[in-house]
Amino acid sequence: MAARIAGTASDATRAFEAAQALPWKPAARPRAILLAGMGGSAIAGDLLVDYAGDEMPAPFLVVRDYSLPGWAGPDCLFIASSYSGNTEETLSAYEDAARRGIPRVALCSGGRLQELALRDGTPCAGFPGGYQPRAAIGWSFFTLLGITIRLGLLGPRDREVAAAIGRIRESAERMGPEAPEVSNPAKQLARWLHGGFPVLYGAGRRLGAVALRWRTQLNENSKVFAHHHALPEQNHNEIVGWELPHAWLAQARIVGLSDRGDLSRVRARLEITGRILSEGGAAFQMVESVGDSLLERLFSLLVLGDWVSLYLGLLNGVDPTPVENINRLKSELERAGVP
Ligand code: F6R
Repeated sequence: MAARIAGTASDATRAFEAAQALPWKPAARPRAILLAGMGGSAIAGDLLVDYAGDEMPAPFLVVRDYSLPGWAGPDCLFIASSYSGNTEETLSAYEDAARRGIPRVALCSGGRLQELALRDGTPCAGFPGGYQPRAAIGWSFFTLLGITIRLGLLGPRDREVAAAIGRIRESAERMGPEAPEVSNPAKQLARWLHGGFPVLYGAGRRLGAVALRWRTQLNENSKVFAHHHALPEQNHNEIVGWELPHAWLAQARIVGLSDRGDLSRVRARLEITGRILSEGGAAFQMVESVGDSLLERLFSLLVLGDWVSLYLGLLNGVDPTPVENINRLKSELERAGVP
């Protein structure tokens, strides 16, 4: 897993170049784009919405389900994202898109999705095999970004992409296994989280996907339960749920993810929230994004979370790579044979 995280920058470079060279271009601008995917193959869509949702001329919806919403039709664009190509929810949504006559694109490393795409003449961006899906984030996100630029949904941004990839590469040097804990923020943060209950809070509009990525990486790489929520919504319900002094509240380690593009009111909310919850016994610290563009800043936080999850897994004495419960669930479901 360490090598995969360290390889994210070069994956991103190759993915972005390849996506822009894909030999196709749909004729009309879609009314909406729907990306179907699960887990590590869905998060790229969420990140794209947080990064560029404000600029996109059409809504971009991430669908984590077997079927598409009723309004989706032939004037939309459908993207099936499944690293393995075998995720049943994504394959089902792919067939649903066909029934509705929606133009389709596939992102995968092989599997059934690749077979179907070949059969149907669906354009398919192929990823190299051998990754855990969540570790292929360089491929999945930068392919998606390249495709949206190629479709004319976003303007060209080569310099911004190069800077973001540079930030990911620099992070691998600063936070990789060779960097000692004294100068490695990811190792320090993993140590702080160790034995506690991680909670991630970030501004929903910009950092919701990054908070989700941190949680899911902590789940899958560190094998721990974790929680995330977005502000300002958290301030209207969950904050009250901290009032009764349960034993686990004292175990909570809250990371407030923060970006300088956050609304100042949301930033103030995060600081006040941290104060209130610290007074209730929880440990709280802010983690700031770094970089010029939003893309660079989002990835500065994302890769920090990836590294933290790796080190927390090692502190927990587990192998960060396998996801036994996911595999078991998928094979039991297969055996159950329920239609
Ligand atoms: C495993 C992982 C999972 C998978 C999910 C869907 O590393 O991240 O969340 O991404 O089970 O599988 P794929 O990505 O193959 O469609």
